[in-house]
Amino acid sequence: MSRKIHKIAVMTSGGDGPGFNPCIRSVVRMAINYGWEVVGVKWGYVGLINGEMIALTRRSVGGIIGRGGTFLGTARSPEFMTKRGQTEALRNLNEAEVDALVVIGGDGSLRGALVLEEGGFPVVGLPGTIDNDLYGTDMSIGVDTALNTALEAIDKIKDTASSHQRAFLVEMMGRNSGYLALMAGIAGGAEMVCIPEVEFELEDVANEVRDAYVRGKTHCIIGVAEGARYNAGAIAAYLRENEETGFSVRVSILGHIQRGGSPTAFDRLLATRLGAAAVQALHEGQSGVMMGLVGNVVRATPLEEVTTRGKELDLTFCELAQILAK
Ligand code: ADP
Ligand code: F6P
Repeated sequence: MSRKIHKIAVMTSGGDGPGFNPCIRSVVRMAINYGWEVVGVKWGYVGLINGEMIALTRRSVGGIIGRGGTFLGTARSPEFMTKRGQTEALRNLNEAEVDALVVIGGDGSLRGALVLEEGGFPVVGLPGTIDNDLYGTDMSIGVDTALNTALEAIDKIKDTASSHQRAFLVEMMGRNSGYLALMAGIAGGAEMVCIPEVEFELEDVANEVRDAYVRGKTHCIIGVAEGARYNAGAIAAYLRENEETGFSVRVSILGHIQRGGSPTAFDRLLATRLGAAAVQALHEGQSGVMMGLVGNVVRATPLEEVTTRGKELDLTFCELAQILAK
């Protein structure tokens, strides 16, 4: 494909994550380095449909490298799921004389990006989600910071749990993905992890908690992904009503604190590398791909593949978690 690019747009969409700002910065400055103009689309596909675009310069992305969230704003747009919304978006891009678009977001946002590409508009996607559930990249932007936030919380909860001899159900984000709960659980030395990818019964959790008590532990930390078969509240209710485990039970739901905060060095570097790679890909005439990190190498994977092939969680980590918790 050969085309001349004069102007590109960049946007963030779906659930935000720490690292979106340094990613926008990288896209903007690399594009300006090629002599291109850059506009930022506000509020994801909502702004694309409403034509909300702002000119971005090197200076407009100054001072954001360490800031959480996304200064362009993000949103979920039911309207973009319709043909009419998609047609409006394409019309606005053409009217603004934009030649290509970079979309930073999760699997839904990248499905939207594929729709635009299939509609004849060049798009490069970047993996932005704390869920780490995207095929084509070992790590998505935001994951490392979210993981460290969850880990810090687990460490603190463990302090108070030990002081009181309590069992804690610590719920982490991940409607369909257990990555955060599993990895934070391993790194935080949790006694058990409950995730959507692995079936479990309430009695299994009760047995683990009792077992931890009998083995002489002064605390029992159970990491629970929000999309696990039973959430933290349901497990706690069961333990309180049905079981004598030795521990009293408390629940801590970490929620959206995992999505905010200053990005870690890893996330800033990942966001910076991938942002620059997206612009380089466009410069080389590529589109319809997502740039991801595969074994410390930046690789392009077709959006078609990213959005149809789910990323499998490596379940050998579950075995490791179980063995090390004893
Ligand atoms: P994330 O990108 O974090 O996974 P969502 O799944 O909510 O977040 O997707 C963000 C937005 O992407 C949606 O609100 C919608 O506008 C758009 N989107 C999601 N799925 C599709 C699809 N199949 N076709 C077109 N647009 C989509
Ligand atoms: O996809 C990222 C994510 O944080 C999920 O882990 C979580 O289930 C969902 O977004 C929460 O969405 P919202 O911010 O709309 O409540």
